[in-house]
Amino acid sequence: MANSKKVLLTGGAGYIGSHTAVQLIQQGFELILVDDLSRSELRIIEGVEKITNQRVSFHQGDCSNSAFLDSVFETNQIDSVIHFAAYKSVNESVQQPLLYYQNNVGSMTTLLKAMEKFHVNEIIFSSSCTVYGEPDRIPVNESAPFKKAESPYGATKQMCERILEDCIQANKELRSVSLRYFNPVGAHPSAQIGELPIGTPSNLVPYVTQTAAGIRQKLTVFGNDYNTPDGSCMRDFIHVVDLAKAHVMALQKVEALENRGEVFNLGTGIGVTVLDLVKRFVKTTGIPLNYEVGPRRAGDVEKIYADPAKAANILGWRTQLSLEDSLLHAWQWEKQIRGIK
Ligand code: UD1
Repeated sequence: MANSKKVLLTGGAGYIGSHTAVQLIQQGFELILVDDLSRSELRIIEGVEKITNQRVSFHQGDCSNSAFLDSVFETNQIDSVIHFAAYKSVNESVQQPLLYYQNNVGSMTTLLKAMEKFHVNEIIFSSSCTVYGEPDRIPVNESAPFKKAESPYGATKQMCERILEDCIQANKELRSVSLRYFNPVGAHPSAQIGELPIGTPSNLVPYVTQTAAGIRQKLTVFGNDYNTPDGSCMRDFIHVVDLAKAHVMALQKVEALENRGEVFNLGTGIGVTVLDLVKRFVKTTGIPLNYEVGPRRAGDVEKIYADPAKAANILGWRTQLSLEDSLLHAWQWEKQIRGIK
């Protein structure tokens, strides 16, 4: 039975990893979580345990350390891997490219070597819509070509997909699914887990909720002169719980997929502008938000949203939660971690 699989989650204490852990546990999978906690905290694992009312098997360590990974594979009979462990700040990757290549690409190659050594042949990979760059056509589907990556972060996602393709060619037992996330937002409705940005957040929604909580004076909307209905950038914001559920479906279907190396977009299919998101946050939460329009941010794509038809047709996955759900849950999470009533 597919749900009797024992699954290793690298980066399992991270934003998407922890939400996926909850869904997998609730579907009866046995999990091993690995995380170096460089970008998360133990309280996220505790949150997963509270939501699921189960103890989680957790190993702290770095996935680009082969001795550490080997010890995890040696002591556990792992069937499948979901590889989340990676850094994700576009800006930081421009400042520290080697850190990103070493961590994101290094952990992928180390993990694949360990999988080969221990005969583990299924991997689901956290990819990103960043692989498309500024697409020629939107909604963008999986056959759109990769554009030159705008940042080292984007390049690492392209490289990891390429590495998987090459390994699929070389190892006829291996199966991989790359999930190209659009913009994950929101938090678990229980407010026990959510995004924990280290230092100043670079992503929009944590910035919005921190501004609403009074931790930041104001939000700057980066540019209002783009070719979009209100001039601000357009994105496809997807609730992290919907995203997490897609991993469960990918894991259940991976053995039966026609292609041993598959890719799926994970998005809602709806484009929402940054200014529209800000307005909907205020309307949904009733919290006023101090914001101003500033200059464009270097490297930003003007507009992108997903064609999610392939994931619907092949995985049977569809989003269920709205942007309002996302914004409300993100705000409830922010309030919980700040102790705001
Ligand atoms: C990018 C990638 C995404 C990746 C993510 C990792 C693209 C299209 N998307 O997301 O795949 O997973 O990085 O971090 O390449 N904004 C503001 N003010 C702020 C913060 C953001 O106006 O303070 C705007 C940005 O200009 C952008 C939108 O909000 O238009 C979303 O930004 P962000 O949350 O950082 O995500 P992306 O850059 O879209």
